Parts: sequence; structure tokens; C-alpha cells
Amino acid sequence: MAAKRSVLKVLSGETVFPPPIWMMRQAGRYLPEYRETRRRAGSFLDLCYNPDFAVEVTLQPIERFGFDASILFSDILVVPHALGRDLRFEEGRGPMMTPIDDAEIAALDGAMFHVNLEPVYETVRRLRAKLPQETTLIGFCGAPWTVATYMIAGHGTPDQAPTRLFAYREPEAFARLLKTLTDHSAAYLIRQIEAGADVVQIFDSWSGVLDQSCFEAFCVAPVAEIVRQVREVHPTVPIIGFPKGAGANYHGYREKTGVTALGLDWTVPLEAARDLQRKGAVQGNLDPLRLTAGGKALTDGVGAILESLGKGPLVFNLGHGVTPETPVGHVETMVKTVRSALG
Ligand code: CP3
Repeated sequence: MAAKRSVLKVLSGETVFPPPIWMMRQAGRYLPEYRETRRRAGSFLDLCYNPDFAVEVTLQPIERFGFDASILFSDILVVPHALGRDLRFEEGRGPMMTPIDDAEIAALDGAMFHVNLEPVYETVRRLRAKLPQETTLIGFCGAPWTVATYMIAGHGTPDQAPTRLFAYREPEAFARLLKTLTDHSAAYLIRQIEAGADVVQIFDSWSGVLDQSCFEAFCVAPVAEIVRQVREVHPTVPIIGFPKGAGANYHGYREKTGVTALGLDWTVPLEAARDLQRKGAVQGNLDPLRLTAGGKALTDGVGAILESLGKGPLVFNLGHGVTPETPVGHVETMVKTVRSALG
């Protein structure tokens, strides 16, 4: 039997030093081999739905850097896509969807949901078979609030004003949308776990734009329900919650949602991060732009995190995804710096 995967040890509350490391968006445009596969695959969605290509790009950063975890290559917006909503990715503009209205929310249809997502499940099965034993495979979904912001606005916005207004003006339709996304996201994670995911992460990238009561109703409650539904079937699979930008709302998030570990964005002060770590594992939280800049900005940032959080359960990561401009050499430096750290 291989040694327990280091990421799983940390998620169960053990301290491992140097900490295990992976990066959000580790398969992506900063890697020349990703850009090459992407050219062959065609569109971004063709890449996501073709298991040959999706497996290839998922493995690229593992082969190059030997990260301790591999994250399934896909996108959070395949969930609304599998519910019948249109989706395109435009170069330089990101995701584009037709904004959904009340009648379309009521008509969302899950009949083909798992059939449409079968290529993703096949990608997970092949990945678990191909990855080194010691590498943890992470599945994921978007949190209902974050997915809803793209469905309602039709694209990314800086403050999610269209979705906040919709939620205030059409509370019943909005609650119905969150409920549909919650149930389908839980079912999606359960299938990923059954296909071989060791851990799942719930990305709530836009949780930082809500007032307290909306944060509780739109972020905390749906994620708590996803965790409940997943745990009913798979009681021991670790779940990482990443309420990006939640600020003071990070406090209590683990307890209220039931997630195993907290993904921290780079604005969380290290002292607050240490408090959060007293209750269980944390993941993060290097500013991705320190990695883009490299040099002292990078080594100082890595050093500060290791010093503050290295004595407890820590999965080293960025505070958000790696930028496409990041030099590959800076990633090598980050990995080397973390792995050669002395406790
Ligand atoms: O982390 C990984 O390596 C796994 C793959 C992954 C992608 N998207 C690939 C991707 C994951 C986990 C996501 C999650 C995702 N997608 C989130 C939550 C995390 C976050 O970044 O906040 C969100 C909000 C999305 C929606 C999305 N997808 C946006 C806003 C964009 C455009 C921004 C951009 O970087 O272009 C995407 C496209 C996308 N998803 C790319 C990748 C590699 C770039 C597409 C390309 O190759 O052209």
C-alpha cells in the first residue's frame, strides 16, 4: 500500500512540512504545452469535453512540476451547459451565455444532465488510472451563487450588480435557480467521486460582493446543502470550500457549511488565516501576481506563508488562479522554494 497522499493527510488535519503544493489553474495558458494542445483541440469547450485532450492537459503540470495534487480540467460553467443553457468562450472576453429569465429558470431541465457530463466523468476515471499513486485527484464544481452570476448576467461583471438586483427583485425565481444548481452540483460531485476524485473543491469566486444576509442565503446555505448531499453518499471525502473575497465572512464558514478545509484568497491576513487553521486545514494563499512578478516578491510571499501557516495543516497554493503571463521558471522557483523549506 502506498503512503497516504500528503494532501489527504493535511486535509484530515495532520501537519506535513514542507507542505504539499498545487496551483489553481495549473493547467492553462502560461504553459506552452497547454497552448499547443488547445490549438489541436479547437475551442476551449472542445478541450473540456474531449477526454483525450482533457486528460492530456490535466497531466501536463504534474509531469512538469510534480505537484502533489491534480485538478480535473473542466470549467464550472459545464453545469448550466449540461442543464441546456448555451455557453461560448470568446477570446479575451471569457464566458458568454444568454441571460436567463424567470420562465427559463422554471424550465431548466436536468433530464440529460449526466449524459451531457459523461465526458467529464470519463476524464476523471482515466486520470485516476494514470496519475501517480501519491498524487491526489481533485474534482470540482462552482458554488451555486457564482454559477448563477454568469447565468443571469450572461458574462462576468466586476460587482455582479445584475445578479444582486435580480435576487432582490425576483426572490422566488432566484431561490429556484439556486436550488436547481445546488441539487445538480451535488449530483455532479457525487459522480466525480464515484469516477475517482479523492477530494472535491467548491469554487465560490464571487462571494465577496454580498452583504451579510445575502452571503448567508446565497453562499453559505447552498454550499452547506451540497456538502450535506455529498456526505450522505460519501461521508469521508474531503471537501474544500473556496469563498473567494469573503473577508470577515470566512469566519464561521467552515462550521456553517461543513466543508473540511478552507481555500483562502490572498487578501486574508496571515494572522486571521492562523486562527482559521486552528479548526482545520487551510489552503492558499499566495497572491498570484507575486508569482507573475517573481524575484523577491515571490520568495518573500512564500516565506511569509510558510512561517505563519507551516506549523499547522497547510496545502500550499495561490490565492486564485495562475495568470497566463506567469513565466514557467517562476513556478519552478516557487515549487523549489516550498519543497526545500526547513521547518
Ligand atoms: O484549475 C485548473 O487547472 C482546472 C481547470 C479550471 C478552469 N476553470 C479552466 C479554465 C477550473 C477549476 C476553472 C474554474 C472556473 N471557471 C471558475 C472558478 C475559479 C476562478 O477562476 O475564479 C470560474 C469563475 C470559471 C469561469 C471562467 N472560465 C472564466 C471567467 C474564464 C475566463 C477567464 C480566463 O482565464 O480566460 C474561463 C476560461 C477558462 N477556464 C480557461 C481555463 C484554462 C481559459 C480558457 C482558454 O484556454 O482559452
